[in-house]
Amino acid sequence: MAKIDFGGVVEEVITSEEFSLQKARDVLADETVTVLGYGVQGPGQALNMRDNGIQVIVGQRDNSPSYDRAVADGFVPGQTLLPIEEAARRGTVIQYLLSDAGQVALWPKVKECLDPGDALYFSHGFGIVYREQTGIIPPDNVDVILAAPKGSGRTVRTNFLDGSGINSSFAVHQDYTGRARERTLALGIAIGSGYLFPTTFENEVHSDLTGERGVLMGCLAGVMEAQYNLLRKHGHSPSEAFNETVEELTQSLIRLVAENGMDWMFGNCSTTAQRGALDWAPRFRDAVVPVFDELYRKVTSGEETQRVLDANSAPDYRTKLNAELETIHNSEMWRAGAAVRSLRPENRNK
Ligand SMILES: NC(=O)c1ccc[n+]([C@@H]2O[C@H](COP(=O)([O-])OP(=O)(O)OC[C@H]3O[C@@H](n4cnc5c(N)ncnc54)[C@H](OP(=O)(O)O)[C@@H]3O)[C@@H](O)[C@H]2O)c1
Repeated sequence: MAKIDFGGVVEEVITSEEFSLQKARDVLADETVTVLGYGVQGPGQALNMRDNGIQVIVGQRDNSPSYDRAVADGFVPGQTLLPIEEAARRGTVIQYLLSDAGQVALWPKVKECLDPGDALYFSHGFGIVYREQTGIIPPDNVDVILAAPKGSGRTVRTNFLDGSGINSSFAVHQDYTGRARERTLALGIAIGSGYLFPTTFENEVHSDLTGERGVLMGCLAGVMEAQYNLLRKHGHSPSEAFNETVEELTQSLIRLVAENGMDWMFGNCSTTAQRGALDWAPRFRDAVVPVFDELYRKVTSGEETQRVLDANSAPDYRTKLNAELETIHNSEMWRAGAAVRSLRPENRNK
């Protein structure tokens, strides 16, 4: 473990220097790792582990585009690509990477496939932390562990392929074998994590649900729309409103923030932008505090997860979701966005 000073608070992280890929291979040498679900995380983690020399099989229902993708990725039906229950029975590590609602639906069957000493692995604390809603209560004689990449499954794969990695948090909820921690770290390294930082199932799910509802997506989408609508209300053209709200952010500023931080950004813009941004940042921060307070309360109370389970297990879930997404897609703002993107030089020359 390396001790790293995060802004004055010292935390422990594990990199592939402390826990090498070779060590991960040794720890997992006698294990069969079953990846249940070949949606977004499933492919990223399964392919990285396979490329890292771990024995991986996939459990995925057939008659599904996800099944076809697993075949295209080289998993062989009947050998390394199996029906969900069969794959769960064969694995000694069961990576439960169905959608969170799918995990609830399949749990009664998957539970029956666990052998004593198996490791049940999650990439999200949802199923375990909200067990009163999900019914996911593992037997006492298995390890229950977590490695949660902090990014999309697609990035898990693309970062691996370009030689970098993705940060993941890790946690042990139940240690039956006495090997739960080393299994978790080995899996975390094998799926392609650049470094791993410790968490608990509770902290992982509370921060993750807050983040995606907040700054990562919900809040971001909301403030972008508010600014776009404001500019349109005052007579600005769609192209101007979109450029000042989204295009400049994604094409320029956020890349600089990614490289250097917001502290640097404040010092490296025009003095006009700097004065205004420094004055307005606290105003926006204070305005959203009550919304964030409500968000965190609803996450920890289970209201958010109950809403997810109710909405995503409804029979007409897909139809309703598609209608909602279609409305956003057809809005002026995002149609303007498509036009703006098409004008980028790299897109114009295609
Ligand atoms: N998305 C991410 O990048 C990300 C990031 C970090 C953590 N996670 C966590 O990783 C886990 C997997 O998430 P994901 O986004 O990869 O899920 P996803 O893309 O929604 O994957 C869904 C998978 O579950 C299967 N599935 C869903 N309902 C099913 C059912 N009733 N019966 C059988 N199979 C069913 C799907 O099969 P079909 O395709 O046949 O429907 C597909 O293989 C979740 O715990 C999630 O919170 C995800």
